Amino acid sequence: MDSYKTFDYDVLVIGAGGAGLRASIEASGCGASVGLVCKSLLGKAHTVMAEGGIAAALSNVDGRDDWRTHFADTMRGGQYVNNYRMAELHAQEAPDRVRELEAWGAVFDRTKDQKILQRNFGGHKYPRLAHVGDRTGLEMIRTLQDHGIHQGIDVHMECTIIRLLKDGDRIAGAFGYDRERGKFRLFNARAVVLATGGYGRAYKITSNSWEYTGDGHSLAYDAGADLIDMEYLQFHPTGMVWPPSVRGILVTEGVRGEGGVLRNSEGERFMFQDIPDLYKNQTADNPEEGWIYTQGDKEARRPPELLTRDHVARCIVREVKEGRGSPHGGVFLDISWIKEKIENAPEHIRRKLPSMYHQFKELANLDITEEPMEVGPTTHYAMGGIRVDGDTQMSSVPGLFAAGECAGGMHGANRLGGNSLSDLLVFGKRAGEYAASFAKENDGATVNETAVADTIKWALEPIERQEAAGSASESPYQIQYDLQDTMQELVGIVRNQAEMDEAVEKIAALKQRADQAVAPGNREYNPGWHTALDLHNLLTVSEAVAKTAAQRKESRGAHFREDYPEKSEDWGGNSLVVRKGGDGEMEITREPVMEVPAELQEIIEENR
Ligand code: FUM
Repeated sequence: MDSYKTFDYDVLVIGAGGAGLRASIEASGCGASVGLVCKSLLGKAHTVMAEGGIAAALSNVDGRDDWRTHFADTMRGGQYVNNYRMAELHAQEAPDRVRELEAWGAVFDRTKDQKILQRNFGGHKYPRLAHVGDRTGLEMIRTLQDHGIHQGIDVHMECTIIRLLKDGDRIAGAFGYDRERGKFRLFNARAVVLATGGYGRAYKITSNSWEYTGDGHSLAYDAGADLIDMEYLQFHPTGMVWPPSVRGILVTEGVRGEGGVLRNSEGERFMFQDIPDLYKNQTADNPEEGWIYTQGDKEARRPPELLTRDHVARCIVREVKEGRGSPHGGVFLDISWIKEKIENAPEHIRRKLPSMYHQFKELANLDITEEPMEVGPTTHYAMGGIRVDGDTQMSSVPGLFAAGECAGGMHGANRLGGNSLSDLLVFGKRAGEYAASFAKENDGATVNETAVADTIKWALEPIERQEAAGSASESPYQIQYDLQDTMQELVGIVRNQAEMDEAVEKIAALKQRADQAVAPGNREYNPGWHTALDLHNLLTVSEAVAKTAAQRKESRGAHFREDYPEKSEDWGGNSLVVRKGGDGEMEITREPVMEVPAELQEIIEENR
């Protein structure tokens, strides 16, 4: 059998974005020995793509805000299928996590009286997003990294985990390889925290970079954990659409938070045309006057561009489909108009949105202080993920925890912008704490040698297949490309039964092709081999998304069906993806949404 290096930890954290770093810091602070594995370099995480801010009811800008309103906004945004306990803990604990981040050195924008400044974002009733210009995620990662490297955490960079290992039912460790040399690594661990983010790379147009191939979702599923609500995938309304090489790169919601408006090719602010039912009691107010939209309470006024992301993305698709799009298949997002309202607008824009200014200047040769941007939806965030307990973040596999985007439930059918960064902090901390106490209370487990040997054999197959395959070889890149095409075209923003059924069939065929994928070359510096191994994860999550979406015969949040355009109470529950024993066939089941306790239901009703 191939040799491998062995490492022993109390807690192994897989993924080094906001959730993984925060979990590692907490577990280490609780006295656990911690190993932190990241697929690329430390600090390179999708967390940086949450640019516009961290949602937390600090009430620095509007004193009426509190955790209750944040909780109610999150539940409404999620169409009331959220794990209410997670939404409650998140709203209650986010302010402390932000203040803690500041104490660790994060430098936030300030109000005139030197408090942390907060801006408007979609679906949040009050200005709630603590921010650092449009680089909030980056500042969060920088701060956690600076703080984390002094905590005695062992970091394994450029290492991919390909299998979780168990001892009976409980977790015992993980197995992976270093991406540079292709050498195998065994991690014995009493508890494992998955914090691997999402799977945007299953789609053609995405804000996610190459690492986001659904690793945590798939590792957990293979280990026997359930996945929840996989049909809910967020398409951020504003990604770049031009030039083609940058299509999908995020254009932060912060642009709209700072007053940016959406217009079609006829110059119309089309977002005034369709106010969803859940927001119907909040009437549009003089659209011709500019950008005012009231939210029940006239003091908390909102532009319609800050309705929830699922809705804004669909309105953009409608405009493009009906022939009112921009030249390259998007719509126009204009922040330059604010010069009519404020002095020194170009300087203000450059200060509040420095990354957006440079992004468009460098990549599209466009000055956003003078001209509108062309934008369109981009695959951004998975609401569905590993089913966890709300308090501890433990999955259905003892000792296996999940936090951040790869965990499901918190955001229901649609996530509010800015709730991801606070989610990472709140549940990263919780996962780290409970993983450390699990490790303390449970003796070390023994990994199964046969499972290790099987994993090595499986991992080397794409390289070993090359001689046998000859010219009939299947390229892993081509298979990923075909999968992206399938998911983008057939399980995208607007869905229907025939297309999703077709997607399920195509994914089955792609799985067979992936079993024949060939990675020419050897194990060193071999991206074809890495892609061949990623395919297993991409195909597992894609199958889960397509199957759960095909069975949900209603429209809710981010899951929109043209053949069932309405929400239906019959479909109010959560969907579960369960791996059946033996041949590991994927089964989709449903369960009722957790019952919300009376005192929380009251808060929801008060804020309807
Ligand atoms: O638009 C943004 O800045 C993204 C934020 C988020 O996804 O939370």
